[in-house]
Amino acid sequence: MDCYSGINPFAAIVIFLLTHLARSTRAFGQSFDQNFQVSWGYDHFARFDNAQRIQISLDHASGSGFMSKQEYHTGIFEMKIKLAPYSEGVVTSHYLSTDSSQKVHEELDFEFLGDKILQTNVFADGVGNREQRIRLWFDAAADFHTYTIVRNPYIIVFYIDGIPVRVFKKSINKALPFLTQPLRIQASIWNGSSWAGGPISWNKSPFKAQYEGFSIHGCPASNGTQNCASPSLPWNKRHDLTSEQKKEFQMVKSKYMFYDYCNDRKRKPAYPQECNID
Ligand SMILES: *[C@@H]1O[C@H](CO)[C@@H](O)[C@H](O)[C@H]1NC(C)=O
Ligand SMILES: *[C@@H]1O[C@H](CO)[C@@H](O)[C@H](O)[C@H]1NC(C)=O
Repeated sequence: MDCYSGINPFAAIVIFLLTHLARSTRAFGQSFDQNFQVSWGYDHFARFDNAQRIQISLDHASGSGFMSKQEYHTGIFEMKIKLAPYSEGVVTSHYLSTDSSQKVHEELDFEFLGDKILQTNVFADGVGNREQRIRLWFDAAADFHTYTIVRNPYIIVFYIDGIPVRVFKKSINKALPFLTQPLRIQASIWNGSSWAGGPISWNKSPFKAQYEGFSIHGCPASNGTQNCASPSLPWNKRHDLTSEQKKEFQMVKSKYMFYDYCNDRKRKPAYPQECNID
């Protein structure tokens, strides 16, 4: 007997309402074109659902990328992303970066190496080399997950579905590197097989990554550094993780982080001081 054929009318109405509400809620978000534009690979870029969802893809001919129209100082920079399956050697990214014309390069990166590993990086003084890698604890190609960078004048936190996976703090006492410039939101998919693992299974291409969530909760560069640091902005209130978040972060570090530049004495003979800020 098929237990699922006799779904009762009440349940059917509830399911209808839930899916309908979910869909109309989604429609309240801003469309891609309000805040973003394609930056390269126009023929490997596609819009869905009135540009509430977009897709960038990689094949042997090209990848693709997009960026925000404006630059931002502080804010909550969030993307829902569904990665391409079987994508070893493919790099999919969501990151914040200075433009090439700015003197000192600054950057905050979510880079997915295939669909199982996340690398984060921070460029704070013109150089990066601050990689951390974690194994994702879910199938990132099966569903959308939320990848967030919160940036304020005191702390930068990377989150996956609200769980902190990386923290970069400004030192109160010492002159250590921290980010100071406005950054543009960027995303891309590209052939990273020279360093991101691989080889790429090109017979599985095109590799399609989808992105949602194009509202931006950030302070635009044009508002000025001072205004963007205002304590009245919601994302500027926290100077540190909560004690609950600290526990979650420790859990991520002990269970899923398998590379941390802080502990790589071959590359960094001296323990990097920014790894030790409390
Ligand atoms: C992908 O990158 C690798 C490493 O740089 C290169 O050897 C290969 O030709 C590239 N493949 C394509 C299709 O672009
Ligand atoms: C940026 O400035 C505009 C115009 O003054 C203002 O409406 C907006 O709220 C400001 N944004 C933030 C995040 O402070």
